[in-house]
Amino acid sequence: MPIPFFITTPIYYVNAKPHIGHAYTTIAADVTSRFNAMRNYETFFLTGTDEHGDKIVDAAKKEASTPKVYADKISGLFRDLWSELNIKYDYFIRTTDAAHIAVVKKILQEIYDSGDIYFSEYEGLYCFGCERFYTEKELVDGKCPDHKTKPELLKESNYFFKMSRYQEWLISHIKNNPDFITPKRYRNEVLSFLKEPLEDLCISRPKSRLEWGVTLPFDNKYVTYVWFDALVNYISAGGYPDGEPFKKFWPSIRHIVAKDILKPHGIYWPIMLKAAGIDIYQHLYVHGFWNIDESKMSKSLGNVVDPLSLKNIYGTDALRYFLMRDMVFGLDSNFSEDAMVERINSDLANDLGNLFSRVLTMAHKYFNGIIPDVDPDIQEKLQFGLQSNALSTVVEFEKEMTAFAFHKGLRAVWEFISRMNKYIDVTEPWVLAKTKSSKKELEAVIYNLLEGLRIISGLIYPIMPETAETMQEHLGQKDIEPDSEKAFYDLELLRTWNRIRPGTKLPKRITLFPRIETKEKKETVSESLIPEIKPEISMDEFAKVDLRVATVVHAESIPKAQKLLKLEVDLGEKRPIVAGISTHYTPEEMIGKQVIIVANLKPARLMGVLSKGMLLAAVDGNGCTVATLDKRVEPGTQLK
Ligand code: MSP
Repeated sequence: MPIPFFITTPIYYVNAKPHIGHAYTTIAADVTSRFNAMRNYETFFLTGTDEHGDKIVDAAKKEASTPKVYADKISGLFRDLWSELNIKYDYFIRTTDAAHIAVVKKILQEIYDSGDIYFSEYEGLYCFGCERFYTEKELVDGKCPDHKTKPELLKESNYFFKMSRYQEWLISHIKNNPDFITPKRYRNEVLSFLKEPLEDLCISRPKSRLEWGVTLPFDNKYVTYVWFDALVNYISAGGYPDGEPFKKFWPSIRHIVAKDILKPHGIYWPIMLKAAGIDIYQHLYVHGFWNIDESKMSKSLGNVVDPLSLKNIYGTDALRYFLMRDMVFGLDSNFSEDAMVERINSDLANDLGNLFSRVLTMAHKYFNGIIPDVDPDIQEKLQFGLQSNALSTVVEFEKEMTAFAFHKGLRAVWEFISRMNKYIDVTEPWVLAKTKSSKKELEAVIYNLLEGLRIISGLIYPIMPETAETMQEHLGQKDIEPDSEKAFYDLELLRTWNRIRPGTKLPKRITLFPRIETKEKKETVSESLIPEIKPEISMDEFAKVDLRVATVVHAESIPKAQKLLKLEVDLGEKRPIVAGISTHYTPEEMIGKQVIIVANLKPARLMGVLSKGMLLAAVDGNGCTVATLDKRVEPGTQLK
């Protein structure tokens, strides 16, 4: 019986278009699912969209649309993106699906009947952004730590879930199952949270305030939404309680989420399962955040990275590779397009691409593109440890990928790529080719190299499926391996040497990854940088922004912050402003310039440096240009 492996992503809110963070989680799930298929596990990969709640109603209103029509549109964008990024999910769930809603009601009724849901009046601090109540302690300076806004005091009668009853049970469950939540830092975070008494969870909203949710089966004046709705997707998708996927896979289920939703997944969800008498899921893998210039991506900051434009410029596999290689699973990472180009050029165009083309050029030049026959003794003599190295790479790769250390798994493959290049340097096939008597040696060397490429093509499959397939095709594997696609990538076959079959004709050579010229890149990217016009605002809303002319009196770079300049500006009073312009302006160029700033923006710290206001600049494919006036005016003059 194959081992069941059920992997999930969070179901994403449909209040905005997908961004690079959503793409990362979903690619990570796809990589894991494909990798476990290589191990011959039976995999099931679930993703979807979370479509109820205030946020969706608000977003729909802004577009003069209805929540359902709006949800259909954005949910469709997610599915389109997944197909562009070669995401092979098995099931896409939407919380507006009738089958899902039926399961939510069933679970609610069961928990209600067993006495773990009660009705009570509650007054608390509510963050509309998070759609939840906060305790004083959770707030930072009295504000929501995520949205940095003051929560509102709200008094309402609602239904509550008795989480406190299961607190001790959950603590021992986490302690008895050290791998339940990984990496460890997040397990510790949950345990430390559980040191304080757990508050019961408010699970309803009166319909008078919100209609867009699932009607409670025991009170039709209320709806449930957010967590009691969303988390249940993980079982409703498999057809709980009698559906085949549920029966086959539950509870061998692994959830991937980012740190933002650790608490619902690490605390609410296991308790909900326990209260409903369902086995607890097996594993929660928690990753960090992709940030931009060390700060959080957000619509209001306008720094949201669109995965589709990156894909259109650099290709699906390059994007998948970069995201998996650059982030240490569990830690935050800073996204930069320059770093991405650098990685593509060095790892994909140079290391992998060059090796592939070097070996195939030789196979075509010396053997007319036909895989040579090998004399086993000579092959053995000319191994120089290559075969055992390939085997240890497969072992290392499997270990790291199993532990979700994607960057380490890839690093192991790239070490082998460099080992292959060294093998060429040591065996010097071009010297062997010059002497007739060395033909057998040349055959063995080229054969070994083709075999090494086969192993590499198999190992990169979960991360770069298209490239893997192209490589397999050019190694003549498509005609060799039996029927199933899986045969190319079966981990067992990657542990064996000598599978490439002599006599096979190799197709014409191709370039795997062309080098990206930096200039060319900038020109192309510029098109994708032009954002859509934002929604209309009223004159009153615009009048809230205080735009002023200011003279730069001092400028200096900030050590460690590549893009930032620290300016001192005069607008009647002097104040510090940090601007991300240092790749286009030197401090000297800025001094004396009259710039335009947003003078009433809340002060913020960028890389630890205080900034009181924001400088305006235009950013296109050629870089950024600071906004100035065409005549000098009195510092502090207001723009209207
Ligand atoms: N709908 C809830 C989840 C319900 S799951 C039962 C939700 N949706 S979300 O659209 O906000 O998605 C949050 C998830 O998107 C994160 O947990 C993470 O997987 C991904 N990411 C969102 N922003 C991210 C980054 N900046 N970086 C990495 N991943 C991020 O929460």
